[in-house]
Order: sequence, then structure tokens, then C-alpha cells
Amino acid sequence: MKVGIVEKPGVLKVVDRAEPEIKNAADVKIKVKRVGICGSDIHIFHGKNPFATYPRIWGHEFVGEVSAVGGGVQNVNVGDHVVVEPITFCGKCYACRQGRPNICENVNVYGVHIDGGCAEFVVLPSEKVHKLPVELPWDEAVLIEPFTIGAQACYRGNVQKGDYVLVMGAGTIGLTAAAMAKLYGGIVIVADLVDEKLEYAKGRGTDYIINSGRENMIERAREITGGMGPNVVIDAVCIKKTFEDAVMVTSAAGRIVELSFNEVPSEIAPVNIIKKELTICGSRLQTHRFPVVIDFINQHKLPLSGFVSKTFPINEMEQAFDYVDKNNAKVRKVVITI
Ligand SMILES: NC(=O)c1ccc[n+]([C@@H]2O[C@H](COP(=O)([O-])OP(=O)(O)OC[C@H]3O[C@@H](n4cnc5c(N)ncnc54)[C@H](O)[C@@H]3O)[C@@H](O)[C@H]2O)c1
Ligand SMILES: [Zn+2]
Ligand SMILES: [Zn+2]
Repeated sequence: MKVGIVEKPGVLKVVDRAEPEIKNAADVKIKVKRVGICGSDIHIFHGKNPFATYPRIWGHEFVGEVSAVGGGVQNVNVGDHVVVEPITFCGKCYACRQGRPNICENVNVYGVHIDGGCAEFVVLPSEKVHKLPVELPWDEAVLIEPFTIGAQACYRGNVQKGDYVLVMGAGTIGLTAAAMAKLYGGIVIVADLVDEKLEYAKGRGTDYIINSGRENMIERAREITGGMGPNVVIDAVCIKKTFEDAVMVTSAAGRIVELSFNEVPSEIAPVNIIKKELTICGSRLQTHRFPVVIDFINQHKLPLSGFVSKTFPINEMEQAFDYVDKNNAKVRKVVITI
């Protein structure tokens, strides 16, 4: 079968591998249909993901059809459409015992630490898959994993009905966070530098947009919120300045959700945190968010149409990565079809 690998930093290849077979009673075999290219896949390709080892079958955003099941599988049947929850965890460490396996001390992400979904077939434990409605188009199903990241950010920021939620960044992750914040009843403000991305957000339920290149983001967000500042600020730009801006703009009793893997320190005076009793939390991957997102999909509440910017067949995987690299300003999600 064909698989897409990052052989080593800078080298992508489609190669032949033996088709995996079911080994355990709890395994499912999936015929993969779509794999989304994420910013982190681009980082793996460029050798900039500290967790990745090579060679690696990339892909943590993938969906497909169940083609075989082990004797002990109960949650899905052959022919079911599924999305994969792409993490493994130990179940024993402190974080796991707190019900937060996404930050397990031994967490592994498919496509990063272990082989992922850019393959004609994958075999994995049935507990990693969630069943989808068969009528959901594959090009929309493949967006579920990124939407779980946005859902996690809203969950960590405890977005409540009527909260003003500022999402910095209208890239893939910012857009998913904005859409989820809207579903949780937030009044959503999105800030970015690119008008086209802002217009897309506006057309999908965002209440206010700010072009941070032309406007003073902090002043404008204060103005929109009647001087209070947004109650929840989600940083999906992830640079030094956006973390600093978040601390300045968030309202008293507000929450800041940091998504950044950035190692560059921000300069933040503690007084600006304590005087407003800000809660600053990290949000990494997701935990228990797949059922939440799938539920919204079943209710037709998620704005998925038009989110995929372009698709490429697996044979054109290199062109697909190149396209993402060169078109960051207009790409929402590029997807590989298998
Ligand atoms: N914590 C997690 O679980 C997690 C998961 C996925 C991605 N991430 C991180 O989230 C970040 C966003 O990911 P993405 O895929 O959406 O990236 P992206 O590149 O698609 O989006 C970033 C957006 O920020 C905008 N931007 C850049 N500078 C800006 C500025 N000064 N002010 C306002 N907007 C600005 C860009 O125009 C772009 O739209 C990345 O840093 C990524 O590493 C975190
Ligand atoms: Zn991703
Ligand atoms: Zn653990």
C-alpha cells in the first residue's frame, strides 16, 4: 500500500509498505479517505517539531471507513465511517488520573511520535475511533480534529453564554475556536492581519473583526466591549506580543487561553495578572472533545462548508505541502485524498 512519509527533515516521499493487519481483538482496520495537513505537519517536514522522530508516516487529522474489526470490537462495524482520536496515553500518571490524558507524561500523537494516518490503511485500537454519520462528506469529516482543538480552547477558557470572546488569529485554529465560542453562546471578536481571513470569519458567525495591522487591537477590543475588555481571550497567533496583549486586554475575572508552543518568553508584569485576577491556562490537543464536536455536527451547527481550501491526491503530497508553505495567507485547510 502507499504511505506518505517524512523520511527526514525536508524530505517527503510516497513509498510502498506492507498493509497492516489486525493483531488484537480490540483492533480496527481503517481504509483512510482523507488526511488534513496541519501546521504541525509542516513543522515536522521542516524539522522544527521537537517531538517528531524520523522516518515518520505523518498525519494526525484523518478519517476513513472501517474495513475489518477484531473479535472484541463493539463500538464500530465494517463499513462505518470514523474519525480517529490521534493520541495514546498511559492511563496511570497524574494527568491521566485527573481525566486529562492529552497531557499524559507519556502522550504519543499519531503522525508525530508514532506513525500516523497518511496511508491507504491503518490498524489501531477501536477505542481511538468515533463513528460518524455516513452522509457527512469526507472533506468535512476531516475537519473534526482541528475543531476539537478549538473546542478544547473554549473549554479551558470556560466560555459562558454572553461572554465576550476575543480570538487572536483567524488561521485554522483561530477559526475553529471562534466557531466553537459562538456555539457556546459567546459574543465573538476575531483579530488577524489578513482581511480575507477576517471576512471568512465574519461570514461564519463572528460578531466583530479587527484588523490588527491597521487598528490598535487592544483599543478596539475595549471599545467593542464597552471599555470592559473581552472576558475570554484565546491566543491562536502564538507570538510574544499576543500573549502580552492578552494580559493587557482581558477583563477583570477573565480567562486567557494560550495555545502557543513558542519558546520565546513574553514580558508580563505580574501586577497586570493579579489586579484583574486573571486565569491564564494552556490548552494542548484535546480531551473528551470529539463527542462534543461530533454532536454539533449531527445537529448541523458547525460551519464546515468551504473550510477546506484545496485537496491533493496522495501522489501529489509534495505539491500539497509546498502549496501550504507558499500560501499561508489564504490557506485554511489543505487535505490529502487517498
Ligand atoms: N495547543 C495546541 O493544541 C495547538 C494545536 C494546534 C496548533 N497550535 C498552535 O496554534 C497556532 C495557530 O495555528 P494555525 O494552524 O491556526 O496557524 P496559522 O498560521 O494558520 O494561523 C495564524 C494566524 O495568525 C495571523 N497573525 C499572524 N500575526 C498576527 C498578529 N500580529 N496579529 C493578528 N494575527 C496575526 C495570521 O495571519 C494567521 O491567520 C500555532 O502557533 C500552532 O502551533 C496549538
Ligand atoms: Zn492538527
Ligand atoms: Zn498518563
